[in-house]
Amino acid sequence: MVRLYSVAHAVVVLGVFALTSLPAAAPAAADEELFHKNCQTCHSLAADAVRRAGPNLQQIFGRAVGTLAEFPYSDALKQADFAWTAEAMDAWLTNPQAYLPGTYMMYRQSDPEIRSAIIRYLQTAAGAAAQQS
Ligand code: HEC
Repeated sequence: MVRLYSVAHAVVVLGVFALTSLPAAAPAAADEELFHKNCQTCHSLAADAVRRAGPNLQQIFGRAVGTLAEFPYSDALKQADFAWTAEAMDAWLTNPQAYLPGTYMMYRQSDPEIRSAIIRYLQTAAGAAAQQS
């Protein structure tokens, strides 16, 4: 019984450690720079940022497409009916016009390594930005 308790305790402690250490996981500088170069002109990750040409990307993974109330999306995004995943984002960044025809996003990235670096960055930084707000 005592032994069971300490195993459970260890699991809880580990779980808390894993949760609290998540925001501290710093994104690789190179990934961050690729986001800045490729996306930041049009997209912000800060909760209180002035609106840019594109919608805020804070905590984008898991968010339903085209659903920020304050952003005037194209019909293509308003009518899309799925939530962002890494796979969807990869296809989207490869060719937004092919993925959701009629979108306003004028950007394409044909290099798979750049796409995955940016996706990796969004998976860390988007969560971290949310923690701070
Ligand atoms: C030239 C400006 C521009 C650049 C550069 C750009 N985007 Fe966009 N992005 C937009 C616009 C405009 C929209 C809204 C599209 C619409 O409503 O059809 C958008 C929409 C999106 C969405 C959908 C968000 C939602 O709320 O569903 C994602 C995800 C996205 N962009 C990711 C990126 C990423 C990642 C990069 C960099 C690799 C990038 N964008 C580069 C302008 C841009």
